[in-house]
Amino acid sequence: MGLTLGNKVVLIGTGSVGSSYAFALMNQGLCDHLVLVDLDAEKAEGDALDLEHGIVYAPSNLQVKQGTYSDCHDAAIVVICAGAAQKPGETRLDLVNKNVAIFEKIVGEIMKSGFDGIIIVAANPVDILAYATLKFSGLHKSRVISSGTILDSARLRTVLGNEFNTSPTSVHAYIIGEHGDSQLPYWSAATLYGQQIGPMLTPQRRDEIAVEVRDVAYKIIESKGATFYGIAMGLARITKAILKNEHVVLPVGAMQSGENGHSDVFTGVPCLINRQGIEKVFALELDDDERQKFDASVNTLQSIQQSIWS
Ligand code: 2OP
Repeated sequence: MGLTLGNKVVLIGTGSVGSSYAFALMNQGLCDHLVLVDLDAEKAEGDALDLEHGIVYAPSNLQVKQGTYSDCHDAAIVVICAGAAQKPGETRLDLVNKNVAIFEKIVGEIMKSGFDGIIIVAANPVDILAYATLKFSGLHKSRVISSGTILDSARLRTVLGNEFNTSPTSVHAYIIGEHGDSQLPYWSAATLYGQQIGPMLTPQRRDEIAVEVRDVAYKIIESKGATFYGIAMGLARITKAILKNEHVVLPVGAMQSGENGHSDVFTGVPCLINRQGIEKVFALELDDDERQKFDASVNTLQSIQQSIWS
């Protein structure tokens, strides 16, 4: 079977992340059909109605409805935002067993519908759940994309934009590795005005920025219970890159097949995204310190996978 085209999106999970993503999709006019699926069908129906009342002010028309897994059969993209959420004090990795079990059911239901599109995963721990999705779905690796470090990279660009009093959109910088505590900034490839950012900062400032970016999610969770607007915009950005066949470079979680010295593991690296999903996983040019941290980050993920699947 070939890849399902069109631009229908099915969202699984209408919690804070899912419903913020749906709102971002509507605001950006990215699709014509949006179906909301949630265990709590009444909540999904309420969200669909609420969103419907915004369409008159959106950039384009949208058919939005509450649905079921059978709606995935002709979807171009299914976005999974379901799963247990991180509680204050809990790491993303603490969630792993609960959410792998939930994903086995969800992905099974999606595939039972005859789905033949692209899945975007956005529940934590996202690298492990994307790997689970790939395994449970049997889809080609180009068709399973995790939000990976798209949000962490946005956070890095925001901090650097503030540091240099420049819009974050003019900062080119990536966080790579785990979407979690072992992530790292890819300083070797970070540029502003065409110049390397690393040498513009002291080593101490670089470390402070890395810690700030890594830990800001904990701060938000302490203050409001969850993070959702930033990730919603990141998911909308990935959706747009796919549906508009953009061939754009985004830092997402991708299955590694030796490009960066690791295989059979999902992790966040810059990738080329187009209508087929992940067109290319880029090989990183890391310095010694980055290589050591990146390997440690990927090894952390691999050992968790082994504890689940060996
Ligand atoms: C975030 O980084 C908690 O993974 C979520 O905002």
